Amino acid sequence: MNNLLKGKRGIITGALDQNSIAWKVAEKAHEQGATFVLTNAPIAMRMGEINALAEKTGSQIIPADATNTEDLENLYTQAQEILGGKIDFVLHSIGMSVNIRKKIPYVESNYDYFMKGIDVSALSFHKMLSVAKKMDAISEGGSVVALTYMAAQRTYPFYTDMADIKAMLESIARSFGYHYGVAKKVRVNTVSQSPTKTTAGAGIKGFGDFYDYADNIAPLGNADAESCADYCITLFSDLTRMVTMQNLFHDGGYSSTGVSASMMEKLYPED
Ligand SMILES: NC(=O)c1ccc[n+]([C@@H]2O[C@H](COP(=O)([O-])OP(=O)(O)OC[C@H]3O[C@@H](n4cnc5c(N)ncnc54)[C@H](O)[C@@H]3O)[C@@H](O)[C@H]2O)c1
Repeated sequence: MNNLLKGKRGIITGALDQNSIAWKVAEKAHEQGATFVLTNAPIAMRMGEINALAEKTGSQIIPADATNTEDLENLYTQAQEILGGKIDFVLHSIGMSVNIRKKIPYVESNYDYFMKGIDVSALSFHKMLSVAKKMDAISEGGSVVALTYMAAQRTYPFYTDMADIKAMLESIARSFGYHYGVAKKVRVNTVSQSPTKTTAGAGIKGFGDFYDYADNIAPLGNADAESCADYCITLFSDLTRMVTMQNLFHDGGYSSTGVSASMMEKLYPED
C-alpha cells in the first residue's frame, strides 16, 4: 500500500542510529509520502548519524531536549514553519534509565536517577502533548504514538525502574488521550514493542538471552524494528482514525502466550 501518509506532516523523535526504532519509522514515513522533521536531544546530535537520515528523507533536524518545555515550544514552532502547517503525527521514541545504565538493582534504585528516568521517559510525553495542545499545533484527527514495553503489565526483574516508568507513560496516553480527543479529536496511543536490538535495548542486563527467550515464546517470533515502524505508520494514517487511548501490543503474540512448545523442548529436551 502506498502513500498512506501523503500530505501529512510529522515530528519524529529518538532516531539515534540505524538501529533505532524511530530511524525505521522515519524511513517508512518518507516512503509513505509524509514530510516531517527529526528531533533528538542536543547531546545525541553530536554523534552526527542523524544527518544521514535527514539527507535520505529530505528532512530538517531540530534539536530539542524533550524534558524542556521551551525546547518543545521551539520544536513545534519551527516544525510548523518548515512543514507549512499544523502537525498530523508525532512519534515519541524516547527512553533512558540511569539506574539501568549503571546496573543498579531495582530494590536499590537511586531516587535521583529514578526521577531522571521518569522525566526523560514518561513526563516528556506529557510535555510534548501539553505544549502541542497549548499551541494548538496538532491538526484535528492527528495521531500521537509513544513506544513502550510489556514490563508495564508484567514483571521483568532486569527492566528495573523502567517498568514503573512505562506504566506511567501508558497511563499518560490514556489520560491525555481523553482530553485531547474531546478537544481536538487527536488520538494518543502507545505501542508495546518486542525486545529490539537497539542502543536502549542493549543497555538492559541479560538482553541477549531475554531476546532469545521472547523469540521462542512468541508464535510469530519477535517483532523487529522495521515491522514496528510499519505498525506506527498505520497508526499515523487515517485508517486507524477511531483508535485512541490504547496500549497496543506489537510483539508477535508474545503477550497472549503462556508457554510455547519450542520453549518446553528447550527446558525439557528429554521428555
Ligand atoms: N529496544 C527495545 O527492546 C524496546 C522495546 C520496547 C520499547 N522500546 C522503546 O522504544 C523507544 C525507542 O528506543 P530504541 O530501542 O529505539 O533505542 P534508542 O536508544 O535508539 O532510542 C532512544 C532515544 O531516546 C533519545 N533521548 C534520550 N533522552 C532524551 C531527551 N532528554 N530528549 C530527547 N530525546 C532523548 C535518545 O537520544 C535516543 O535517540 C524507547 O521508548 C524504548 O523504551 C524499546
